[in-house]
Amino acid sequence: MKIVVLAGGLSTERDVSFKSGDMVARALRRKGHQVLLLDVFMGYGDAECDISDIFDRAEEVSVRVEDIPKTAPDIAAIRAGRKDQSKTFFGPNVIAICQAADIVFMALHGADGENGKVQAAFDLFGIQYTGNSYLPCAIAMDKGVAKTFFTAYGIPTPSGITLEKEERQDAAKKAKIHYPCVVKPACGGSSVGVTIVEDPGRLEEALDEAFYWEDEVVIEEYIKGREFSVGVMEDQVLPVIEIAPIRGFYDFKNKYAAGSAVETCPADLPQETSRLMQKYAADVCKALGLTTYSRQDFLLDESGRIFCLEANTLPGMTPTSLLPQEEAVLGMSYDDLCEEIIRISLK
Ligand code: DAL
Ligand code: MG
Repeated sequence: MKIVVLAGGLSTERDVSFKSGDMVARALRRKGHQVLLLDVFMGYGDAECDISDIFDRAEEVSVRVEDIPKTAPDIAAIRAGRKDQSKTFFGPNVIAICQAADIVFMALHGADGENGKVQAAFDLFGIQYTGNSYLPCAIAMDKGVAKTFFTAYGIPTPSGITLEKEERQDAAKKAKIHYPCVVKPACGGSSVGVTIVEDPGRLEEALDEAFYWEDEVVIEEYIKGREFSVGVMEDQVLPVIEIAPIRGFYDFKNKYAAGSAVETCPADLPQETSRLMQKYAADVCKALGLTTYSRQDFLLDESGRIFCLEANTLPGMTPTSLLPQEEAVLGMSYDDLCEEIIRISLK
């Protein structure tokens, strides 16, 4: 097949996305496909360049992940929310190259890419892509909106409020906060901008950090407990994985620095608890309309209560990511998993 692996984007998870994309591209090449790893923001060539035989040159023109910081020096500023209005999200030729592919493997994470906008654009351009459709992506990406859906469908989730930038001084809203609490950008990923706030004196600092990344933040009750995740592939719920960071919580560093968290799959849990967590993972799919693959994150508190934190509609595919580890327990290799994601997405 002719496959574009689409990575990059302008979210806080841009670098994570390249880690996923690079690994997926290598896996699909080993399977014999013509794979082009494309940076969605930088695109390829200029508007007039010839792309008619681009898949014959796929490897040669693929983005080299080690060159990324050099080719995109302006990304840091854009990532920090100061958008460059002179550039569109799609770099030169991205849409045309994607239209020439049999499928686009979505290796984008966070913000535009995981929030359904790219999926909606691709639907309009007649481009096939992996993963879920735009609506469940949009719902899942906003942690405040997703919380409302979880509650409506009886899926336990930490109670929380959403605060817009202009409501920051809203005393009535702030009065509802119980401590310790967790402050996070509403549509972030990989725990960027997330702070656990122990006492009210540290709230403003945490809000500064979260509002640096986004104009909407979620403040939710802090649940002290163990961290778990459950992947779902179509109707198959994967084994529960436990993540035990060696220090602190499962933040950005602990997610991507090999050896900084102990991951156990299947998790050491009573069968009843594992089953219930898996049921909630499947319930999230029904509640949000997730039909291809996803990964739901959970906490288990000290009294045995389960809380669903969020659904990831484009779960990480990096060397330290969780869904591939869950599949490995079932005997599926990383390379087979990448093809399987394509297969279920083309149905
Ligand atoms: N947001 C990251 C990529 C994950 O959920 O795996
Ligand atoms: Mg996430």
